[in-house]
Amino acid sequence: MSRKLSTRKRPERDRHMLKEQLKIEEGVFDKRTMAAIWKMFNHNIISRLDFMIAKGKEANVYVADSGSSIAGDQIILKIFRIETSSFDRRIDYVRGDIRFEGKEGRSPYEIVRTWCKKEYGNLMIARAAGLHSPIPYYFNGNVLAMEFIGDNGMPSRTLRESELENPDAVMAAILSDLKKLYAAGLVHGDVSEYNILMRSNVPCLIDFGQAVVLGHPNSGRFLERDVGNIISYFSKRYGIEKDPSAVLDWLRKGG
Ligand SMILES: Nc1ncnc2c1ncn2[C@@H]1O[C@H](COP(=O)(O)OP(=O)(O)O)[C@@H](O)[C@H]1O
Ligand SMILES: [Mg+2]
Repeated sequence: MSRKLSTRKRPERDRHMLKEQLKIEEGVFDKRTMAAIWKMFNHNIISRLDFMIAKGKEANVYVADSGSSIAGDQIILKIFRIETSSFDRRIDYVRGDIRFEGKEGRSPYEIVRTWCKKEYGNLMIARAAGLHSPIPYYFNGNVLAMEFIGDNGMPSRTLRESELENPDAVMAAILSDLKKLYAAGLVHGDVSEYNILMRSNVPCLIDFGQAVVLGHPNSGRFLERDVGNIISYFSKRYGIEKDPSAVLDWLRKGG
């Protein structure tokens, strides 16, 4: 169910419904996460929480009905888990990125909050560069609201779950997006068949938390790994052979 509200004031019924929902989710969501979701509701980003579609490595991903400030019926809330074992891994992608120098945060919560803000900022850059990636709408604390990538209310499948009819074209579209991202000064850093969703025939890159600016000491290595992952996936599954260094040369040069 989705409803569009024309006024900024919420009907009592809506408030009551979300409060009840959040109560049910208590134990799943800690207080800070609940407060962030509540903010999304008050800012008309969401009108209700629907269901969880994925439990990723570091985040639980929910579908929510959009609030009146968002076009479209549904949106995605990516809720970063505060207790995860991936802080050490995360910190390597925050340190060395000039945007976050000295602002990494100390407590697990602060680090997760930085990570969430970083994914939001990275998605903004990706969209401005013309990538097929989700539009970021809003973030608060450890919760990020973004465009729902799906067809007819169903979340799109990952590249891995899809059997492609036109693998050459899809591979070319992915590499072209990586080139655009590079030209915009960013390297994704976790490109794989799991972080690409197939909306109809268009590959959409997701999961931008770890993406770093080119000045990051490991950006070169991350780019090589990203391109290598795509090349080896399409080689293994579809028998398409491409020379990684030729692709990297093409990707790094402008135009
Ligand atoms: N914008 C989106 N639209 C539809 N599904 C999404 C979206 N973002 C994430 N998902 C789903 O949630 C899963 C995990 O999201 P992801 O951003 O990759 O988180 P993690 O960092 O935990 O891997 C994805 O594989 C996908 O199935
Ligand atoms: Mg992922």
